[in-house]
Amino acid sequence: MDKTKRNAVIAGNWKMNKTPCETTALINEMKPLVAGADCKVVLCVPFIDIPAAVEAAKGSNIEIGAENVHFKASGAYTGEISAQMLVESGVKYVVIGHSERRQYFGETDQTVNLRTLAAIQAGLTAIVCVGETLEQRELGYTETLLKFQTKMALTNVKAEDLNKIIIAYEPVWAIGTGVTASAQQADEGNGFVREAIAEVYGKDVADTVTIQYGGSMNAGNADELVAKINVDGGLIGGASLKAEDFSVIVKAASK
Ligand code: 13P
Repeated sequence: MDKTKRNAVIAGNWKMNKTPCETTALINEMKPLVAGADCKVVLCVPFIDIPAAVEAAKGSNIEIGAENVHFKASGAYTGEISAQMLVESGVKYVVIGHSERRQYFGETDQTVNLRTLAAIQAGLTAIVCVGETLEQRELGYTETLLKFQTKMALTNVKAEDLNKIIIAYEPVWAIGTGVTASAQQADEGNGFVREAIAEVYGKDVADTVTIQYGGSMNAGNADELVAKINVDGGLIGGASLKAEDFSVIVKAASK
């Protein structure tokens, strides 16, 4: 397998952190630290921070993403944001199906699929999250679950649109816990995701899809994780809120 066929993408997921003013300050601090990176650099920020983030990132190699998107184009969906609204605001990426949304906000494999279709139709790149809980891992369901979530998320996605898809393997037990998957576990999980894509679209296509690892990735462990053949960068929570730590991860993926 040739890793050079794929883009490494380091994406921050700020979750519910940073006000618009803090957004401007943090991106201004990050810009010089990540300039010239040999990987894509993305910051997925709260909706309200998007204008400040787009403005602050102008002229730099940082691209801006959102953390969710609704699947309808418009209508009576109070509190929701459409893909076209994001596009017009300068957003290029959107996180879909994060485990926190699955756990706390009723996100299902079906709504993940609908959001994914809406995002790519609008020209956004979807960062689709999959991952097993500790209980599912201990019961031996990791492979089955990752393949099922991946295939469900990609239902009706055409092969030619896979360049607008990134899958992030985020074991639920590793998110925000400080417990990182070992490089071996991350590589294996990402490998299951790639196999699922190969089962539907063929191996050649699957080899071109960017698959990130996420879950307590930090400045200390990024090197080892992103060196793995199936790990094409990362989706970073806590460490993306610190300019210095985030830039170390970006540098690890640029090697
Ligand atoms: P942490 O890096 O804080 O564990 O979060 C990972 C994550 O959920 C990224 O989407």
